[in-house]
Amino acid sequence: MSAKIISGKEIAAQIRDELKKDVAELKDKHGVVPGLVTILVGQNPASISYVTGKQKTAHELGFHSIQDDQPEDISEDALLDLIEKYNKDPKIHGILVQLPLPKHIDEKKVLNAIDPDKDVDGFHPVNVGRLMIGGDEVKFLPCTPAGIQELIVRSGYETSGAEVVVVGRSNIVGKPIANIMLQKGAGANATVTVVHTRTKDLEAHCKRADILIVAAGVPQLVKPEWIKPGSCVIDVGVNRVGEKISEKTGKKIAILKGDVDFDAAKEIAGAITPVPGGVGPMTITMLMKNTVKSARIAAGEGS
Ligand code: GUN
Repeated sequence: MSAKIISGKEIAAQIRDELKKDVAELKDKHGVVPGLVTILVGQNPASISYVTGKQKTAHELGFHSIQDDQPEDISEDALLDLIEKYNKDPKIHGILVQLPLPKHIDEKKVLNAIDPDKDVDGFHPVNVGRLMIGGDEVKFLPCTPAGIQELIVRSGYETSGAEVVVVGRSNIVGKPIANIMLQKGAGANATVTVVHTRTKDLEAHCKRADILIVAAGVPQLVKPEWIKPGSCVIDVGVNRVGEKISEKTGKKIAILKGDVDFDAAKEIAGAITPVPGGVGPMTITMLMKNTVKSARIAAGEGS
């Protein structure tokens, strides 16, 4: 039987509808409008496209949104001053500096300069630490892992007691999603294994997974025989494997493949995310969710 396809597009749209209501309520009750600034240094085409998507969504949700474009040769000090300006701005609840930054700028220094209470990317060491501690400490979950958790929960998969295997140990996906799944609480309580390039028998670990989360950056690494029948497979990989002409626009577009052999895997898994249209659409939506949360805290609701 073919797996249920978990549509990130549909689930992201559902969450955005919920956020629209939250935004209206914040405005009515407290006169607060969530504010998000995205800072883009230079003109990297992929970064422009990501930032444009973030701004478009913020605008659609009725946020106060600022796109702050800076030249490629901005000094590190000037960028740090800019961040400090937004740290102090009460109308701004979320600050995002689009990565990567030019080589002359120390990325770590820049991320550490963002007020952790406005760090809606969840990359600041304080927020990484808050996630490690768990419970009420957690403020902003990093957006891609938070989106993965929503996909699993909203497609009805039980995480409590489940064997979750995470392939990949990056700071932005592998490590945080392992931590999220390990938390005490709803949508978590899992038994978590993290596997990586030095793991001796990847296949044996993957075969045990009730929920398999793959963020390895290797096209079609996971073969169908690695998948436990009926399991939930979340493919975080976005690998450009070639180009084609879009039927819609007639323009050249990238051919994208995930880290899982989707066509074969869907005949074995119980549910699976497609690439594109799975995890991807969730990331921006979770950034919006973090910004609304930050605005709510600023309005005196919650912590
Ligand atoms: N560059 C690519 N993805 C991201 C992201 O999620 N956040 C930031 N700040 N930069 C990125």
